[in-house]
Amino acid sequence: MIRRVGARPIVRVVYDAEALDLRVRELGAEITAAYPSGDLLLVGLLKGSFMFLADLVRRIERPMQVDFLRASSYGAGKESSGEVELLYDPETPLQNKHVLLVEDIIDSGRTLNRLLTVLRSRAPASLSVCALLDKQLAEPLPETRFVGFKAPTAFLVGYGLDHAEDFRHLPFIAEVG
Ligand code: IMP
Ligand code: MG
Repeated sequence: MIRRVGARPIVRVVYDAEALDLRVRELGAEITAAYPSGDLLLVGLLKGSFMFLADLVRRIERPMQVDFLRASSYGAGKESSGEVELLYDPETPLQNKHVLLVEDIIDSGRTLNRLLTVLRSRAPASLSVCALLDKQLAEPLPETRFVGFKAPTAFLVGYGLDHAEDFRHLPFIAEVG
């Protein structure tokens, strides 16, 4: 155990700050190369993507716009309805823009699935996903074009990821026990 914040101890650092920095640089280069022309809009999914997005945009070397999106987290009972409520909706119109949705982690893929349905209806020029981590539990979504790491199925915190709103500030990603 390296640190205890709240009730759960951190048991293992999975990606240290250097590994994250290296991979984010690579993703920035991949994204720069993937969008040679057109208007690019990065949409960070709050709150988990805030640190990843802040680092990523500094590694993309082309013009872009940045906005955010916040979806309601529904309980298990409501998930099957396929409805998603946007608590904060991007102010920037998506129409005719290359929209890149930036997500911290893909677990079941349900969050992204619902959001993509909403965003598709707004006629973007293209719609893709950049996820820092993918637990690979779900069928891969065709929109998932950029992935930082294939993550273990453990519960991970830090670098934006929380457990009960704690740990988001950590500069590394760790497993909590
Ligand atoms: P999904 O809808 O099951 O893919 O879950 C994705 C969302 O659940 C992410 O945006 C995170 O907010 C949260 N989540 C999933 N796995 C983890 C984890 O290991 N640590 C912290 N949050 C997680
Ligand atoms: Mg969360």
